[in-house]
Order: sequence, then structure tokens, then C-alpha cells
Amino acid sequence: MTAVGPRPLAIAGGAFQVQHRALIGPEIDLGDLSAAAVPAPMLPLARSIWQERVRTEFRSIQIMTRFLTEVTGAGDPLDVYAIAADLVADEVRHTELCAAVCRRLGVMPHLPEPVELVEPEAFLKSAMPERALTTAISMLAINETISNALVADLLDRCDYEPIRRVLAATLEDETTHGSFGWDYVGASLARFDAGSISHWRAVAAHALAPHQSFAAQAAARRSENGEDERELARFGLLTPERQAIVFERTMKTTIVPRLRALGLLDPEPPGTSDRAPG
Ligand SMILES: [Fe+2]
Ligand SMILES: [Fe+2]
Repeated sequence: MTAVGPRPLAIAGGAFQVQHRALIGPEIDLGDLSAAAVPAPMLPLARSIWQERVRTEFRSIQIMTRFLTEVTGAGDPLDVYAIAADLVADEVRHTELCAAVCRRLGVMPHLPEPVELVEPEAFLKSAMPERALTTAISMLAINETISNALVADLLDRCDYEPIRRVLAATLEDETTHGSFGWDYVGASLARFDAGSISHWRAVAAHALAPHQSFAAQAAARRSENGEDERELARFGLLTPERQAIVFERTMKTTIVPRLRALGLLDPEPPGTSDRAPG
């Protein structure tokens, strides 16, 4: 049997819902948020951005679940597992928050397609400690730092309570883990021999590449957009130009210094200290 089109994100209800609430926390009060609360010209963008967020948060559930398998498969210290399990629960909560916004905006939240997380064969065949560190560098350290910065930037500029509550709940989850991802990367690097550092630098560069090319494309249009955008931020929305500004700022303040401290950036040629990392 073949399913046609994207599958809606389903709710099981009953005992599942009770346990879900106990673990994930109460539903967020979305106040008067509705399709009618959003200016008509902005509604299609609002719907598509929040639907896309459901799909990416769902991917995060899958990646964090995979990470839990990887840290246990690697035989990591016992006290690593609670945070890894908590990361999965956080992403379930984020997916639920974004789905709730979609329903208020009058659109269905969908699963990504394909639903299954497809990984390169070479990655799946590598040893668990290597897989865990690859996931920690790309997802926990780099991608999470960027997405937290984007949510924090939206929250700074958003003046509409229902959306502020969604953004604040997302950020609160992320900040409880502090610098877990970066700390894990530092500790895990120590179990690989020094010669492997060029491989880990390549993993970091590979994780940064799509963000860098997205930011470079958006930079070309920067003069028109991306400055303040409070009317978009009100509904949790932003342009690619604003996203590029936040990415570049986060690179400078957090990602580059952290990667450099871990030896995960290629050493700079003399006299190029202001250049973005390659
Ligand atoms: Fe998330
Ligand atoms: Fe996350």
C-alpha cells in the first residue's frame, strides 16, 4: 500500500496523551491567535513558515533519538543519557508547539517526506563513538546554537503574547541544557587520536556549509530587508536576510570562538584573522 502526499501529524489521545502531558508539560496558552489575527497578506507566509517548523522540529526528534542510540552504543558515561533523553522530549515539545500554531492559523501540520530519516550508508556503518561525535558537532553544537540564536532574536523583537509564549517555551528548553553539546564534543574528541582532528574539522565545515551559502545568498539582498521586521516578528516570522544577520552574528560571538577553542577550525593563514572560516 502506498500513501499519497504528506501525512498529517497525528494525536493518539487517551493514556498516551496523559503521559505525553506529564512528560512534556502543559499546553501553551495561545490566547486569541487565529488566521484572522494575522494581516491577510502575511498569512500565507505565516502558514508556510510554521508548517516548515513542524517538519524540521520533527526531524530534530529523529536526530536526537538517533543520538540517544549513539551515546548508549558508545558506552558513554551514565550521566550523559538523561540529557540525551531530555533532548528528545524537548523536540517533541517543540513539534507540538509549532503544530498548535499551525492549527490556529487554519492549516494542517504534516510529517516530513519521506517520514524516515535517511542517512548516508558510510555514516551508518561507522562506529558508535564516531557517530555520536559527528551528531554532537553538527546537530548539538552547530545547528542548535544557530537555531537558539534565531529563536532568541525573534523573541527579542516579538510583541504578541501568544507567539512570545511559544518562543519563550522553546528557548527555555534549550537553555536548560547549557553548553552540553559543546562540552560533549570536547570530552569525546579526547578519545580519538590527534591525527583524526582533520576529519572532525571536515565534519564541522560540512555542518556549517549550508548555513554559510544561505547567508551569502541572502546578503546580496540585505539592503532591502532584514533590519528590524517587527511586523513579521510579531507572528514569529523572519526573512532570509534577517536570518543571515543573526547567523553571522552568532558565528562571530559563539560558533567561531568555540570551534577554535576545540581545534575544529582550520588554522588561519597569517594576516587573515577577520576572515570567516572556510
Ligand atoms: Fe527544537
Ligand atoms: Fe533543539
